[in-house]
Amino acid sequence: MLTLGIETSCDETSVAVVRGGRDILSNIILSQTVHSKFGGVVPEVASRAHLKTIIPIYRQALSQAGTDLDQIELICATMGPGLVGALLVGLTFAKGLAFATSLPFVAVNHMEGHLAANILEHPELDRRHLSLIVSGGHTLLVEVKQFGEYHILGRTKDDAVGEAFDKVAKVMGLGYPGGQKLDLLAQQGDPAYFKFPRAMMKEDDYMFSYSGLKTAVALYLGKLTDEQFERHRADIAASFQEAAVEVLVEKTLRAAKEFQIRDITLAGGVAANSRLRSMFRQRIDRTDCRLFWPSAALCTDNAAMIAAAGFFRYEKEGPTELIVNAVPNLSLN
Ligand code: KG4
Ligand code: ZN
Repeated sequence: MLTLGIETSCDETSVAVVRGGRDILSNIILSQTVHSKFGGVVPEVASRAHLKTIIPIYRQALSQAGTDLDQIELICATMGPGLVGALLVGLTFAKGLAFATSLPFVAVNHMEGHLAANILEHPELDRRHLSLIVSGGHTLLVEVKQFGEYHILGRTKDDAVGEAFDKVAKVMGLGYPGGQKLDLLAQQGDPAYFKFPRAMMKEDDYMFSYSGLKTAVALYLGKLTDEQFERHRADIAASFQEAAVEVLVEKTLRAAKEFQIRDITLAGGVAANSRLRSMFRQRIDRTDCRLFWPSAALCTDNAAMIAAAGFFRYEKEGPTELIVNAVPNLSLN
């Protein structure tokens, strides 16, 4: 089934064509760079940028897939969570297309999209698995019983882990969004240089917290001279990253053991973090678990994962009615 996916929940305008939930024919992603000068995503600016680019990106996705609207059999778009104005651009465009063509439509949960990125790329993944979804807006540990059936084990009590990366990167002068730049800088530093707090590490639940770590780094930086900061930038980045990542790895592996789950997937923008991956790899060697993550283009926001999730939903429960609206705080359950 040829599926058109549309994603506009935050600052990426993306349209994809995917066959049968697994075979990506095109996945065009346009990241809005306009927000960097504001140091964060400005919702109104994001909506306007989506409006300008959605139609050209849609045309490009069809043409790169070597297809046209006549061949499309299912239309899917993100309905939440995300910024309401941004969501509305993609959702309304997709509903309009579905209405005009009488094609079936599926409204997709963005988090289920992130989760589906691994199912899309790794056919060998167990149906029951544990997924750590880490992005700029979310830190979620989920037991996937099967696609569509979730047991949420933990989430963040305050900031998302990607948000902490972005804020620390910003105070270190790395620009916005700075997660990836901080990762690169940290690769040249000593992760044991300073021991920042590992929030909730000792608690026996699966909740996370990142605002304390972010503040601890800001306070630490405030005490340094310019010279000290310049000399130890990479060490500080590495020390922050080590603290941020260690809690994620420890809690995920603990959950895998407690619930006896073999397969673990990483999803969302922070799944691209090199230390998160290497620490998982090191510690997973002592277990029977298997670790999966999506390729770079499928870690951050993209429409191929939305098309795949929409296709799997359609197979399970058919289309969504076109009266559906955007839900900015939509939860996974
Ligand atoms: O999934 P995503 O594209 O958007 C949301 O749904 O939020 O994730 C974006 C987040 C940003 O916070 C970005 O800084 C972070 O993922 N990120 C990283 C890395 N690459 C992207 N954080 C740490 N290390 C990276 N390599
Ligand atoms: Zn996302």
